[in-house]
Amino acid sequence: MKDLTITTMHKNHIPEVIEIERVSFSTPWSELSFINEIYNPNSTTYVALSDTTVVGYICLKQIKDEGHILNLAVHPKFRRQGIAKTLVSKALETFRANKCNFIYLEVRVSNIQARKLYEDFGFKPVGIRKNYYILPLEDAVIMLLQI
Ligand SMILES: CC(C)(COP(=O)(O)OP(=O)(O)OC[C@H]1O[C@@H](n2cnc3c(N)ncnc32)[C@H](O)[C@@H]1OP(=O)(O)O)[C@@H](O)C(=O)NCCC(=O)NCCS
Repeated sequence: MKDLTITTMHKNHIPEVIEIERVSFSTPWSELSFINEIYNPNSTTYVALSDTTVVGYICLKQIKDEGHILNLAVHPKFRRQGIAKTLVSKALETFRANKCNFIYLEVRVSNIQARKLYEDFGFKPVGIRKNYYILPLEDAVIMLLQI
């Protein structure tokens, strides 16, 4: 997508982020969850902006050399234009710069789009967390990328 900017998430982005979150997940994060991530020194949060409109976001956490992708979504109107790819690339660049060796994430077993996205970056399924998600109850695939 042309004219896409990736920048650190600020408090004033949160209303738009929450709108995307609500249409993307059955158990959306609250405003407070995003505020906690913004101020957590172990976390990094990015938004993708088209002009000044928030079209996607990603939340990352790092403990020692282990990174975790906690959350990722793109506004339904802006999907299939490479925005998630740009956000995941930015996440990997950040983890590499912070000397991360392992990057984990969980994804619903049925979320084929997201699993394909991560596989394209080299993430491999390494385990299952039984009944990790609710609404509907579903297992998570744990995916790992070693960098
Ligand atoms: C998953 C999601 C973030 C993808 O965002 P996006 O901006 O549309 O993704 P991109 O356009 O960057 O696509 C990147 C790759 O993801 C995969 N992909 C994305 N959407 C797909 C779809 N509908 N069907 C199949 N593969 C898909 C493809 O591999 C695609 O690469 P390609 O275009 O070269 O085929 C978006 O669909 C979303 O927000 N879903 C709801 C929230 C969610 O599931 N988040 C992930 C939780 S772990």
